[in-house]
Amino acid sequence: MYYDEISKSYEELYGLEQTRKIQHVLKLLDEKPKKVLDVGCGTGIASDYFENYTGFDPSKELTKIAKEKKRKGWIFIDSAENFSTKEKYDLIICLTVAHHFQDKIKAINNMKIHLKENGLLILSLLKKSPSNKEVLEILKKHFEIETSQNEKDIFYKCKPKKFI
Ligand SMILES: C[S@@+](CC[C@H](N)C(=O)[O-])C[C@H]1O[C@@H](n2cnc3c(N)ncnc32)[C@H](O)[C@@H]1O
Repeated sequence: MYYDEISKSYEELYGLEQTRKIQHVLKLLDEKPKKVLDVGCGTGIASDYFENYTGFDPSKELTKIAKEKKRKGWIFIDSAENFSTKEKYDLIICLTVAHHFQDKIKAINNMKIHLKENGLLILSLLKKSPSNKEVLEILKKHFEIETSQNEKDIFYKCKPKKFI
């Protein structure tokens, strides 16, 4: 897997870019979320920005680095399609990950299931990603969406339809 191979230089390559995306997410929030889940968390950079943080990633090597760096919260190995936690979350973030989903419908549905009532999903994709249209069409079935952008990504702020 690409991310296992480049794990040692992941933060050097992408750290600043991904931090800017987390800062964009913070600007989109109306209130401080209590429980946060980071889907495809990489090395868990976002854990520095939230108090109650859980993250997972299918890359064993990236999660290993998260542990070495003693990132706070619970970080485990899993995929968006298959993860299952007893908890539900006020905020789920999924930054520059969805183009990797093997099964986009399953992954997005699974994230929705893990949101609390009135919870929020913020998903971003590279502006240039060919998956944008497909992902947006799936999101629209489940969520009311506000769109914004930073220099690299397009962000979908998603509120579940049944809670509106
Ligand atoms: C560009 S990195 C972004 C990582 C992290 N969100 C960040 O901001 O640093 C893409 C990540 O998606 C993860 N990924 C790939 N397929 C996935 C899947 N099916 N479910 C969850 N994460 C996945 C990769 O292992 C990688 O860590």
